[in-house]
Amino acid sequence: MTATFTVTTSAASYPVVVGAGTLNTLAKRLNELGLYGTLWLIADEQLTTVAAQTAASLRASGYRVEVTTVPSGEHSKSFAELTRLYDWMIGNGIERRDAVLALGGGVIGDLAGFAAATILRGVALVQLPSTLLAMVDAAVGGKTGINHPLGKNLIGAFHQPRLVLADTNLLSTLPPRELRAGWAEVIKHSVIRNADLFVALEELAAARGWHADNPAGWDATDHELTAQLTAIIARAVAVKVEVVSIDEFERGERITLNYGHTIGHAIEQLLDYRLLHGECVAIGMDAAARIAVALGLCSPELVERQRRLLAAYGLSVAMPADLDHAAILALITRDKKVQAGKVRWVLPTAIGQVVVRADVPAEIVAAVLSQATIHAVTPE
Ligand SMILES: NC(=O)c1ccc[n+]([C@@H]2O[C@H](COP(=O)([O-])OP(=O)(O)OC[C@H]3O[C@@H](n4cnc5c(N)ncnc54)[C@H](O)[C@@H]3O)[C@@H](O)[C@H]2O)c1
Repeated sequence: MTATFTVTTSAASYPVVVGAGTLNTLAKRLNELGLYGTLWLIADEQLTTVAAQTAASLRASGYRVEVTTVPSGEHSKSFAELTRLYDWMIGNGIERRDAVLALGGGVIGDLAGFAAATILRGVALVQLPSTLLAMVDAAVGGKTGINHPLGKNLIGAFHQPRLVLADTNLLSTLPPRELRAGWAEVIKHSVIRNADLFVALEELAAARGWHADNPAGWDATDHELTAQLTAIIARAVAVKVEVVSIDEFERGERITLNYGHTIGHAIEQLLDYRLLHGECVAIGMDAAARIAVALGLCSPELVERQRRLLAAYGLSVAMPADLDHAAILALITRDKKVQAGKVRWVLPTAIGQVVVRADVPAEIVAAVLSQATIHAVTPE
């Protein structure tokens, strides 16, 4: 199956296409969008073979394609790597009518996206996400950027892509832990906005016998499974498309995507990124749901259902041992979603519905943190 959604922004609209094998349709789609210039393909080094195949097929369709690879990992979202990309494109004669193609996870999407946003005052960008997180989150919505030595994502721009093409076949090579981290964002999308998607995730887990000890995986030889997972991913992408279409510049609705991130971000930083972002978001979602219960916003049953679903997709909600709760609280109040000194919590009222509350007493947060189950962090 292939699903196509449309992001509507103030400047333009663009398609987001999700399906197994969609990369094969890239040349045709670029043509339809009137993109005929040179294609600057920037790929994660883990995708060198896919990049070469993609470039060959685009060349066979008449395109001039230049390819470069970027080292894997967050440290590539740097001034040094950005400068290298500028040098490469300017040195090889980039023109305004050209397009940058970003093939990789959120790191490549953010880095190549920011290069596209700024070079020659902006050229066309096409996102070709290769991780589950990038498909359901980072590639859609136009946020691009790099890190500053003093903090993550501090230098950036909004630059909407002309096309997002998510080929779910790419997920078959993704390390299982990265896949699981992506499921956290899928489950998050379902809790904030789509109860039917939550139920579909539950039903698939039940049908496949997935639980904490036998969590979801990706088996490229199982075509029925690929189709089922692709359909679910498409529904999660639709949530992101809806939210960014409502709130292009992150002034309102988009904060709901931050569900689980307030505590999640703090844990991520305190552990010095030993846990993946999605793993921390899962812990943060559990804490946020328990805060919602403490405030009388939802029933404890929601916490249990969310835990079961997270576990079925390989995610633990246990708080890492040795984390200083006071340090978590201190970091939370410094979170960038703080407005006028108040932490804005995204809290569930039911599966598929959240509210934003700026009046959560610190004692409730502290109590929730102290009631969390604890485990030692042993990343694979
Ligand atoms: N712009 C946004 O709106 C937005 C939203 C969320 C996150 N982000 C950013 O996204 C980044 C995280 O993205 P991510 O989780 O995709 O991480 P990532 O880009 O680092 O990819 C994760 C790992 O998977 C590897 N990989 C990628 N695709 C692969 C494939 N198909 N097969 C095998 N290996 C593959 C990469 O080499 C890397 O080691 C962070 O920098 C974060 O700030 C941006």
